Amino acid sequence: MTKIAQGSSPRRIAIAIDGPAGAGKSTVARMVADRFGYVYIDTGAMYRAVALAALRAGVGPGDSGELERLVSGLDIRLETGDNGQRVLLNGEDVTGEIRSREVTAAVPAYAAVPAVRARLVELQRAMAKAGGVVMDGRDIGTHVLPDAELKIFLTASVRERARRRYEESGRAQGLTLEMLEREIAERDRLDASREIAPLVKAEDAIVLDTTSLTAEEAADRIAMLAERAALGAGGA
Ligand code: CDP
Repeated sequence: MTKIAQGSSPRRIAIAIDGPAGAGKSTVARMVADRFGYVYIDTGAMYRAVALAALRAGVGPGDSGELERLVSGLDIRLETGDNGQRVLLNGEDVTGEIRSREVTAAVPAYAAVPAVRARLVELQRAMAKAGGVVMDGRDIGTHVLPDAELKIFLTASVRERARRRYEESGRAQGLTLEMLEREIAERDRLDASREIAPLVKAEDAIVLDTTSLTAEEAADRIAMLAERAALGAGGA
C-alpha cells in the first residue's frame, strides 16, 4: 500500500468512520490512519474497557449512580505500538480481555448509559483536538465529531460481517457462523434502537458497503475521499 507523505495534504483533518459490528471499521480505519500518519482512535475499545471494569466490579448497567462513580475514576488509554493498538485500563493491558464474548455481549447495555457516554465522548473529543485523526465507532459523525471533514458510514451484509468475525476469532472460540450472525444482529438492534446517540448514519456521511470489497479497497476509497476533503478544508 502506498503511504502518503505526511504534510502532502493541506490540512490534517478528522475522519469519522461509523457503522455496525464487523463492517471492517477498525481494520480500515487503521489502514487509513497509517497512510496519512494520523492517530487512530478505536472508541469501541473504550466502551469495551468500561464494560469490563463494570463487570469486574459487579456494577450492572441499571445502577447509573454507581456506574457514574466507577467511570469517572477510570483511566483509559489507547497506545499504538508495533503490534497494533493496546488498551490500558488503569495501567493494566486489557487488549485481549475486552474482546471476550462476555464483554462483547455486555457492552451495548453499558454504552446506552448517559453518564458512560458523556465521560467517553469528553475523552474522545480531547484526543481529537489536534486534528489528524481517524476515529471509528457508532456516533462519531453524529455526536462526537459533528464537524469532521470526512464522514464514512461503513456497512456490509450481516452474513458477511458474521463470516469475517468467524475467520477473525469465532472459529478459534468454537462458535458457529449462525451463532455469530445472531449475536451481531442482536448487537445491531441494541445499538440502533437506544435512546442516546444511536447507531445511525449522519446526514452528510458517505455510505461505503464493504460486502464485496477487501479492506485494502475500502481504505483506498476512503483515502481518496480524505485527500479531497483535506484539499477542501485547506481552502476553508
Ligand atoms: O468491533 P465491533 O464492531 O464488534 O464493536 P466495537 O466497535 O468494538 O464496539 C463495541 C460496542 O461498543 C458496540 O456494540 C456499541 O454498543 C458500543 N459503542 C458505542 O456505543 N459507541 C461507539 N462510539 C463505539 C462503540
